[in-house]
Amino acid sequence: MSITGAAIVAGVCGRPIRHSMSPVIHNAWIAAAGLNAAYAPFAPTEDNFETFVEGLRCGAIRGLNVTIPFKEQALACADRCSDLAKLAGAANLLIFEADGTITADNTDGPGLIGAIAAQAPSFDLVAAPVVILGAGGAARGAAAALALAGAPKVSIVNRTFARAEAIAISIGGVVQAASEAELDTLLARAGLVINATSLGLGGGAGPAARLDLTPAGAVVVDMVYKPLHTEFLRRAETAGRRTVDGLEMLLRQAVPSFEAFFGVTPPTEVDVRALALAQLGDAAK
Ligand code: ATR
Repeated sequence: MSITGAAIVAGVCGRPIRHSMSPVIHNAWIAAAGLNAAYAPFAPTEDNFETFVEGLRCGAIRGLNVTIPFKEQALACADRCSDLAKLAGAANLLIFEADGTITADNTDGPGLIGAIAAQAPSFDLVAAPVVILGAGGAARGAAAALALAGAPKVSIVNRTFARAEAIAISIGGVVQAASEAELDTLLARAGLVINATSLGLGGGAGPAARLDLTPAGAVVVDMVYKPLHTEFLRRAETAGRRTVDGLEMLLRQAVPSFEAFFGVTPPTEVDVRALALAQLGDAAK
C-alpha cells in the first residue's frame, strides 16, 4: 500500500542509528499487513534528544522506539510510564498521545524473556541465579524484567561498579551489584549469563567472563547481534552451553512496539528474522 496523508508514522531514535535493524523489521510488517504507515530512523545529537521529543508532542508521530544512548532520557521525558519502565529506569518505547502527553514503556525485558523462551525453551527462569554483564540501559531493562519474572537472584557486574550499584539500588529486591572479583564464583552458580555490555559489537572480543565455569545447564545470552554469532556466544557453545542471540531479542521487543504504534499484531507470514539476517549479510555468519 502506498503512503498517503493519512499514514500512521512511527520511528526509532538513537545515535548512531544508521545500522539499526528496526526500520527493516517494522516496514516489512507494515508492508505485509497492508497498512498505510511508515517507520523512519532519527538520530538527534546527544544534547538535543529532549528538544526532539518535545517537538513531537504536537501530534507529529504516533510513537518512537528509543535506543542507545537515549533510553534513560526517554523515560524522563514521559508524563506516565508502565511499571516495568519505572522499575527499569529506562524506556525503549514512547507513545505520543492525542492530548500531547507521552507514555513510556520498556519492551526490552519482555523481548529478552521471549527470546529465551524461543531459543532455550526448557529453561526455568525462577530456578537459577542470573549474572548480567554491563550496567547501561539494556542491563536495566533486563534486570527489571527478570526480577519481575521471579528470578531468585540477579547479579550485575560492570567495569564501573557505581553504575551496577545504581541499578541495584533503584530496582532493589533480588537485584544486587557485584564486583568483577566475585564474577567467577557467581558464574559457577549461574543459570543464566547475559552480555549487556557493548563488547563484541562490530566483531571484537566479548566480555572475558569464564563461561566454562557455569553449570552444564546454563543458558548464555548476548544482546549484541552484530555479528550474530559473537565471540561470546561462540565461547559459550564451545563450553557446551545453550545460547540465545541478540537478534531474537530485538525481534521480540519489536512486537509490542508494533502493536502499540499500529494497533495490530505483526503478521506472521513475513519471516522478519530471515530479512534481518539478509540485512546483516556477512555479520550473520
Ligand atoms: P546500553 O544502553 O546499550 O546498555 P551503555 O549505557 O553505553 O549502552 O552501556 C554500555 C555497557 O558496556 C556499560 O556497562 C559499559 O561499562 P561502563 O559502565 O563501565 O562504561 C560496558 N562497556 C563498554 N565498553 C566496555 C569495555 N571496554 N570493557 C568493559 N565494559 C565495557
